[in-house]
Amino acid sequence: MATANEIKEAAAILRSGGLVAFPTETVYGLGADADNEAGVRKIFAAKGRPADHPVIVHLAEMMEMAEWSGQIPKEAWRLAEKLWPGPLTLILPRSSRAKDVVTGGLKTVGLRVPSHPVAQALLREFGGAIAAPSANRFGHVSPTRAEHVRREMAGRVDLILDGGDCEVGLESTIVDLSGDEPVILRPGAITQQQVEAVCGRHMASPETSSTRCSGRLASHYAPRAELELVETAALMEKVQTLAQQGKKVAVLGAGDVRLPPGIERIDWGGTSEEKAHNLYAALREVDERQCQWALVVMPPLEADDSGLAAAILDRLQKAAAPRVSEPSP
Ligand code: TXA
Ligand code: MG
Repeated sequence: MATANEIKEAAAILRSGGLVAFPTETVYGLGADADNEAGVRKIFAAKGRPADHPVIVHLAEMMEMAEWSGQIPKEAWRLAEKLWPGPLTLILPRSSRAKDVVTGGLKTVGLRVPSHPVAQALLREFGGAIAAPSANRFGHVSPTRAEHVRREMAGRVDLILDGGDCEVGLESTIVDLSGDEPVILRPGAITQQQVEAVCGRHMASPETSSTRCSGRLASHYAPRAELELVETAALMEKVQTLAQQGKKVAVLGAGDVRLPPGIERIDWGGTSEEKAHNLYAALREVDERQCQWALVVMPPLEADDSGLAAAILDRLQKAAAPRVSEPSP
């Protein structure tokens, strides 16, 4: 766990325009001083991310929202009050403080108050706002452990703060409140039902919004291996077909099903909370075991009422989508 001295050092790095990877309750972030253009630009270089993608601004507390957005609807205050600090990002009309490098040239800005104690300590020690995407190379799986960041970003970041395993394991829920109707742009641990209950109104479907959001590219959150979602009944046939083609196969979530020899079994937990928590580490494991295929056995969605299953399915569908280009190792 990061020490008080490391947090001081991290804050000094941010002040001097450097990059710090830090834990949040969702995934690890790759942070720079949100007011320092050159600093934020380094994030894009380190990730290999296109420069026109917006970056979330992380704040220590809700009141700072007013410095970053000049037009805050009452729903935003309500959501912030009920669900921050926590795994929720609000998209709001930006103020002049939010520079183009942060917003990707959009007229909106993404804001979030994380709850992880190390993220909170860093924000308070630093005293400013931290612009941070997930601390992975562009298109790849988000890191949920300091070790994931170390492996992927070594030499590209000035300091990595260790905060243990990220509790949630999936990126924050993104709610766009900048248009006529609120829209959930990315599902996460804060469910649509929770957001609707707080706002007292229905959320529109994301398909109607054309906002640029890297998590909404068809192929994203992907391991190197090909990935396919399968039903339990179809699993064995698929395993056999791939094995006959000489492919090295990993199966996630096979439960008690007996797998033929040579097939790698990866357990990613039983409940949706466990699956969300373990998903990205499990996908990394597929690549580490040098499997060319990952078959993911999904329980039917109706079997789960946590709402988290929708977020897990969203990430799996993106990992299974045809690749635009080879994700970086
Ligand atoms: O849980 C999280 O949100 C993590 C932790 C580190 O906070 N961050 C994260 O950042 O997942 P990133 O950049 O990997 O994903 C954030 C998504 C991107 O797809 C980005 O396009 C979108 O949020 N986003 C940021 N600002 C936006 C804006 N103004 N309008 C629309 N989308 C925005
Ligand atoms: Mg990301």
